[in-house]
Amino acid sequence: MKIFVIGGGGREHALVWKLKGSDTDHKIFCAPGNPGIAEIAECVSLQAKQIDELADFAETNKIDLTVVGPEDPLTNGIVDFFEKRSLPIFGPNRQSARLEGSKAYAKKVMERFRVPTAAYRELDDFEEALAYVNEQGAPIVIKADGLAAGKGVTVAETIKEAETALRAAMVQKVFGESGTKVVIEECLRGEEMTVLAFVDGKTVLPMVPSQDHKPVFDGDRGPNTGGMGAYSPVPHLEKWLPEINERVLCPVAEGLAAEGTPYSGILYAGLMITENGPKVIEFNVRFGDPETQVILPRLENDLAEIFLAVAEKRLHEIKLLWKAGASVCVIAAAPGYPGPPTKGLPITLPQTLTAKTQIFHAGTTNQNEQLVTNGGRVFGVCAQGADISEAREQAYSMIEKVHFKGKHFRSDIAAKALS
Ligand SMILES: Nc1ncnc2c1ncn2[C@@H]1O[C@H](COP(=O)(O)OP(=O)(O)O)[C@@H](O)[C@H]1O
Ligand SMILES: [Mg+2]
Repeated sequence: MKIFVIGGGGREHALVWKLKGSDTDHKIFCAPGNPGIAEIAECVSLQAKQIDELADFAETNKIDLTVVGPEDPLTNGIVDFFEKRSLPIFGPNRQSARLEGSKAYAKKVMERFRVPTAAYRELDDFEEALAYVNEQGAPIVIKADGLAAGKGVTVAETIKEAETALRAAMVQKVFGESGTKVVIEECLRGEEMTVLAFVDGKTVLPMVPSQDHKPVFDGDRGPNTGGMGAYSPVPHLEKWLPEINERVLCPVAEGLAAEGTPYSGILYAGLMITENGPKVIEFNVRFGDPETQVILPRLENDLAEIFLAVAEKRLHEIKLLWKAGASVCVIAAAPGYPGPPTKGLPITLPQTLTAKTQIFHAGTTNQNEQLVTNGGRVFGVCAQGADISEAREQAYSMIEKVHFKGKHFRSDIAAKALS
């Protein structure tokens, strides 16, 4: 098959790596890709927002299936656009992508299908929002309704903090149109977990769970990032999977299908496991980053076959097979991250990798034939092992061999599973 992956981060490197496999003869293209992806696939210098040009490329090169990594093109309707031109594509259409593109829309969907989630109010008037916050008290969670590149949520410990967040979103409009409306939520306590599922409108195939680490410093301290590492499985929370399947993934897929707007693609449930069980924090409509980097090395199936089965609405024919053992990913970040990262720092990488380690590129580029930093999250350093502690040791020993000035990483990825 000829497969075209859109995006250029660590998630897309993991997707391309898995699609390429060791014994398939798939031909993979990636736009724009990155230097790591360029080693195993053909990179195309188009950005994810150039939907017209991407479709032209898919048509000219007779691509069998296009796979979209990031959320922006999905909420912008890339799937509808490709389908109108009869180009096969994997992912939700614009309507379905609202599950991620509007937090208020997602809340309404959850309400309709009785999915457990935090109590909330949707507001678009600053004074009313402020009054609601004062009435509810702190802690309280303020969310910009639209996409905000992972920066639109404030877990406010005080009313003052909540007011600052509301003012930033609704008055100063720091997220543009995305923040003119807000969702104000009850603050949930517990541990977070991610469950992704393949959905073809009817069939729901959940993947193995994983856990991300958002704050930049050990012990979940410091500002939030795109994710500093992940691991899978999550043994201490695994007992909740049947409930997550029955009360979250299936009701959403079945409910949307019954309403005449079937969901197709990846359904990502971000959950808080509270003392009253799992509650949904948010839905995303694509693979997570860095969850993908730990999940895909555990998958036995040919990923292209699964994508094709979803696109052709015959996911019921697929049985997902998972490798035993565990997978851990530690992000190597550039100095400054999650603030503006230092770009252009020369990088050296270990010469050899074992079959059970991967270094997925995210923020890298080539400058005069030298690999240099080019973003906040530079690499996802991943390893698999018989259990979490073995995978973790491998990942940490590998990250020591990745060199660039000011490299920082969390030293406690997967520690929650071991304590
Ligand atoms: N209701 C909530 N209670 C407690 N923490 C929350 C709540 N909603 C979100 N969070 C925290 O904020 C983070 C980001 O929120 P999320 O809804 O996932 O937005 P996004 O990923 O779009 O930034 C979550 O991973 C979680 O740590
Ligand atoms: Mg999130």
